[in-house]
Amino acid sequence: MSSPKNAILTIGNQQIELPIITGTEGEKAIDLSDLRKNTGFVTYDPSLMNTAVCKSSITYVNGEKGILCYRGIPIERLIKDGVSFVQIAYLLVHGNLPNSSEGKAFSQLLNVNSLMHEDMRHFFDLYPRGAHPMHILSTMINALAVYYPNVDLLSLKEDIDISSARLISTVRTMAAFAYKKSLGEPIVYPRNDLSYCANFLNMMFDSPVAPYHISEQDVRLLNVLLILHADHEQNCSTTTVRTIGSAQVNLYATISAGISALSGPLHGGANQAVMEMLRKIQKDGNIKKFFDKVKDKNNPARLMGFGHRVYKTFDPRARIIKAECTRYFQERHITDPLLQVAFELEKAALTDDYFISRNLYPNVDFYSGILYRALGIPEKMFTVMFALARLPGWIAHWREMIGANTRIVRPRQVYIGKKCRIPSCNSDKSGVN
Ligand code: ACO
Repeated sequence: MSSPKNAILTIGNQQIELPIITGTEGEKAIDLSDLRKNTGFVTYDPSLMNTAVCKSSITYVNGEKGILCYRGIPIERLIKDGVSFVQIAYLLVHGNLPNSSEGKAFSQLLNVNSLMHEDMRHFFDLYPRGAHPMHILSTMINALAVYYPNVDLLSLKEDIDISSARLISTVRTMAAFAYKKSLGEPIVYPRNDLSYCANFLNMMFDSPVAPYHISEQDVRLLNVLLILHADHEQNCSTTTVRTIGSAQVNLYATISAGISALSGPLHGGANQAVMEMLRKIQKDGNIKKFFDKVKDKNNPARLMGFGHRVYKTFDPRARIIKAECTRYFQERHITDPLLQVAFELEKAALTDDYFISRNLYPNVDFYSGILYRALGIPEKMFTVMFALARLPGWIAHWREMIGANTRIVRPRQVYIGKKCRIPSCNSDKSGVN
């Protein structure tokens, strides 16, 4: 039987045909964009749990089968082929992996834009010691628009590549500066001779009194971690970027809003929570007791790093991270007692009926914190690392949204407040804006 082209909606005596949209991978959506115009009805879908807000050709996620592809390429293949984070950024933003001349030109653009405006360096002196680096980052990025105002004219297409490169490159510099400032140590400038990840690690850990030795394994690991977090279609921060961008706000303010969304504990902060949980379990030495708490409906405790809104099987990123974890610790001949706790916890959960029956599997955050910790990155910086990684995804979505001439995002509501006191008030044509 061929797939239907329309869905029929019956409201009272009225029947309306609604077009069915089919995605490349066979995903189906009912197009409701003219529903209000044709019937006076709007759709009600709090938190947009069942709403496709756009058509997108950047990232494909299949939560039932555990598939993640960037521009059609499975994440496993990108990792296996040793693609770099910079190449992934190019892939997401431009739609294809760069050939050698495109790759060179892109790297050069990143190098040229790696320095933050020198005047902005003084901002770091004014933030209170102990300020959260995510708050610093979102403020600094918003301030970029003051120093590079050309991006306000977002119709100037020739500036978009430069502003995108500036963001991808400078944010790394800002993140490392924020960390150095939090320690009270002198900042370390970016170097054009280093790769993207090596450069970041050097800015984080080099010091005038103890030069930093850049290890190949660390660079490889950081590269993998950033790639795995680079995009994940319409999550909360990406939707924020697309929504704010639709008002034609400049790119920097838009990305700054995305960073603010990501800073929320329900979004970017889970791997930090995993570390806290592992430490607690390590101290108590009792997984069963912890599981009893998690299963208790009256207890808010959750097995952090497990479960996902979209994935109802293994998160493909979690499989890759676990393999990287084993490889990295073996290659470096190091160990972390929390890794053993994580292994035991995962094994126990995967054989426990509670988790099996609810399709709860490890997500990307279960092992990522342990790896960031192994790289020497403090827990306070974990969400910043996420932001660094997610930048190419946000930029790709912003560009796609601008390119599609998206109208300003303006959802509807179902008003449940006091009755309007204007006698002639007609709620269908209230003229709100
Ligand atoms: N531990 C224990 N029970 C869980 C967990 C968990 N981690 N996740 C879901 N459940 C239970 C729920 O209590 C619910 O049980 P019930 O059917 O008896 O009521 C059932 O599984 C379904 O859960 P939902 O809440 O419907 O799952 P939802 O899709 O809303 O939530 C979420 C997804 C928020 C990720 C959830 O699994 C969770 O809180 N996980 C822990 C936090 C975490 O790891 N977040 C990172 C996600 S990945 C990312 O953001 C990059």
